[in-house]
Amino acid sequence: TYVIALPCVDVKDRACIDECPVDCIYEGDRMLYIHPDECVDCGACEPVCPVEAIYYEDDLPDEWQDYYKANVEWFQDVGSPGGAAKVGVIHKDHPVIDALPPQAP
Ligand code: F3S
Ligand code: F3S
Repeated sequence: TYVIALPCVDVKDRACIDECPVDCIYEGDRMLYIHPDECVDCGACEPVCPVEAIYYEDDLPDEWQDYYKANVEWFQDVGSPGGAAKVGVIHKDHPVIDALPPQAP
């Protein structure tokens, strides 16, 4: 799966959403999360993120390894809706993100 990491927090550019053929990029309060089971690894989202927040799981920089877990665990009580557009913003973040101070200027 692909994973969204720290640079998305408090930025949420959302360019990635338009590229995903399976609509598996879901919006939380402070960042977006890629559904680990719904993502088909097409990679279309990765180059369009202006802050380079998106990585294939094996390519996540060491300092952002927590974000694999954050993307997976965020969906534990969301399940697999099969499309983010109909769900809209889900007003929560993973505890790793909740613990961060404000990131955007
Ligand atoms: Fe975030 Fe980049 Fe998408 S900032 S919303 S991962 S385009
Ligand atoms: Fe969608 Fe990106 Fe996966 S475009 S299918 S979330 S690699």
